[in-house]
Amino acid sequence: MTFIEPSYPSITGTAPINAGCTPASSQLRGKVAVITGGSSGIGLATARRFIEEGARVFITGRRQAELDAAVELLGDQASGIRGDVSKLDDLDRVFAEVGSEAGRVDVVFANAGGGTGIVTIDDITVDMYEKVFGANVAGTLFTVQKALPLMSSGGSIIITGSTSASRGHPGFGIYSASKAAVRQLTRVCAAELAPRGIRVNTVTPGPTDTPGIRGIARGDREQEQALLASMAAKIPLGRVGDPAEIANAVLFLASEQASFMTGAEIFVDGGDAQVLS
Ligand SMILES: NC(=O)c1ccc[n+]([C@@H]2O[C@H](COP(=O)([O-])OP(=O)(O)OC[C@H]3O[C@@H](n4cnc5c(N)ncnc54)[C@H](OP(=O)(O)O)[C@@H]3O)[C@@H](O)[C@H]2O)c1
Repeated sequence: MTFIEPSYPSITGTAPINAGCTPASSQLRGKVAVITGGSSGIGLATARRFIEEGARVFITGRRQAELDAAVELLGDQASGIRGDVSKLDDLDRVFAEVGSEAGRVDVVFANAGGGTGIVTIDDITVDMYEKVFGANVAGTLFTVQKALPLMSSGGSIIITGSTSASRGHPGFGIYSASKAAVRQLTRVCAAELAPRGIRVNTVTPGPTDTPGIRGIARGDREQEQALLASMAAKIPLGRVGDPAEIANAVLFLASEQASFMTGAEIFVDGGDAQVLS
């Protein structure tokens, strides 16, 4: 799971996003949100969107420097807590800090994760398997479990899936299997948590331009462009997604607009998993 620092167009600029202004609207006014993997890509774009809608946001990630940079960008409604979702002690510490600072959690975006890059079945190692399943599956499961004591009726949990879960892309075996697992976890959590008034849904991005996806090219800029172009060519809408487009769907699932949705999956993929192109 090597993620290369991007030249990333969507979240740029030096001023804190919410500097000197009131939220654009108020779909999450007064809500407390935890976003794992909130220091980059889809998680960072979602943190930005949540704050625009009035939320107080806690973001997590393993790298302190990236967390600090993200918090600076997001402004004073954001806090960063370093932690690896595949480590239970880290998750305990994350939610202990959220509990002591905010007292509760209204929205969880269990988003942290990644893959191995392109590795076919002959070359998969146990170490790769453990890393990807540790972050994507165990990390998601225990993020939800550890958040629950701070959540009550009206809460919303959103889990990041992937179109890879329902397609057979060569070289994405472990990653695809891990995302299929969390899709099913969403259904079971939705069933178990419905009596408590907590909704659980999956957001399923197609190829989206993030540091994570660019990292598959391992720092080779030409390969990076070629990779994004080859992905775009297979997508009915003819391009890869912007993280802000995924964030809009996460916001919808987090908000009261989605009050009758649980166990569901929203594809934000330019038609990738739905339409032949
Ligand atoms: N981009 C796509 O095309 C795409 C498509 C479908 C699904 N997804 C999914 O979307 C989610 C976000 O991906 P992204 O593309 O936005 O990637 P990204 O830009 O690399 O961001 C990943 C975030 O997760 C954090 N993270 C990774 N492993 C972690 C761990 N074990 N514990 C805690 N934090 C961890 C990273 O920070 P640190 O590295 O500092 O920990 C970073 O903040 C992932 O679940 C990914 O599988 C992405």
